[in-house]
Amino acid sequence: MTDKKLLAQQFEQYFDVMADCFVHAPGRVNLIGEHTDYNGGFVLPAAINFGTDIVAKAREDRQVNVVALDYAQQQASFSLDDIQHDHAMGWSNYIRGVLLILQKHFPLSKGADLVVTGNVPQGAGLSSSASFEIAILKCFAELNQLPLDGIQAALLGQQAENEFVGCSCGIMDQLISAMGHKDQAMLLDCRSLQVEFTPIPPQHSLMIINSNVKRGLVDSEYNLRRQQCEQAAKVMQVELLRDADMNMLVQHKSSLSREAYLRARHVISENDRTVAMFEALKHADMPRISELMRQSHLSMQEDFAITVKPIDILVDIIHAELGERGGVRMTGGGFGGCVIALVPDDLVESIQATIEQQYQSQTGIKESVFICTAEQGAFA
Ligand code: GLA
Repeated sequence: MTDKKLLAQQFEQYFDVMADCFVHAPGRVNLIGEHTDYNGGFVLPAAINFGTDIVAKAREDRQVNVVALDYAQQQASFSLDDIQHDHAMGWSNYIRGVLLILQKHFPLSKGADLVVTGNVPQGAGLSSSASFEIAILKCFAELNQLPLDGIQAALLGQQAENEFVGCSCGIMDQLISAMGHKDQAMLLDCRSLQVEFTPIPPQHSLMIINSNVKRGLVDSEYNLRRQQCEQAAKVMQVELLRDADMNMLVQHKSSLSREAYLRARHVISENDRTVAMFEALKHADMPRISELMRQSHLSMQEDFAITVKPIDILVDIIHAELGERGGVRMTGGGFGGCVIALVPDDLVESIQATIEQQYQSQTGIKESVFICTAEQGAFA
């Protein structure tokens, strides 16, 4: 986490007063359950030790002034009574959107001065934006003493992203950033929003490898997948793909387009794998974890078509060495981004060395590796 004292000093330099509110909201890694959240299904993420930090102080008026340390110290200013989209400083729309939505549910009496910084790699599929949204919500909840809980905060963050930022994401990222538990993974039922936790197997590391593939067309491809899932659900006459099973899918195969059939096959099988993975994690059953993560990756590659060549190469390199001793798959929305590997501690170094030897020479791209821990969410 960023040094609190340093941030407090920076705040004082910008605003000439002392800050009295410090919040942190984590990014996340998803162990399994990809593109299942907006289908009402299951996901199994963990909050990580990378996130967004905010230092702030309430104001007596309704002005909001924000300094973004990571965007060349750009400054955004607006009134709580006049929140508009900002095309020049895209980052500020996360704050604007969240505060617009928050005010529909809670009266905000005070504006604030804020300094914001974060260390979640952006565009890597580790939810830098959700961690930003949840940090803002936590900050304004504290400053205005709002009775906001983690589930509500997650729903407001998602709504801001759907309606103001323009990405039709599901609920996973905001909910784990708000509700994660230290050293645990969270099974989330995205329909009922019920959560259950289980420890990350002892003596195992969460190894996140950023493929550093530049992601393109992410939003349009993401929204297209959503539409294909909705189409498949409609043909099978269920509200959400969560309600479908393999028998129904086979029965309706001839009425579905090839794409819709494959997308639905991924979601239906991924839901089952996610519930199975929760059980396997509880028993630290590494061969089963290895198998489930492998199947999940292949399903994202072949049926959901969201992986890219360098990511497949990276996963294959790690899988070849890890075998049944751990699991590896792409994590996040897809089209680049990161791979998650659950690795026994004594293999971390050798896996890292193998990636270093093979990934760049096969793809021409240099990876970055993060050994992560599972952390507490902002509202947990
Ligand atoms: C992005 C979205 C999430 C989820 C994942 C895919 O991270 O924000 O809601 O749909 O993609 O699992």
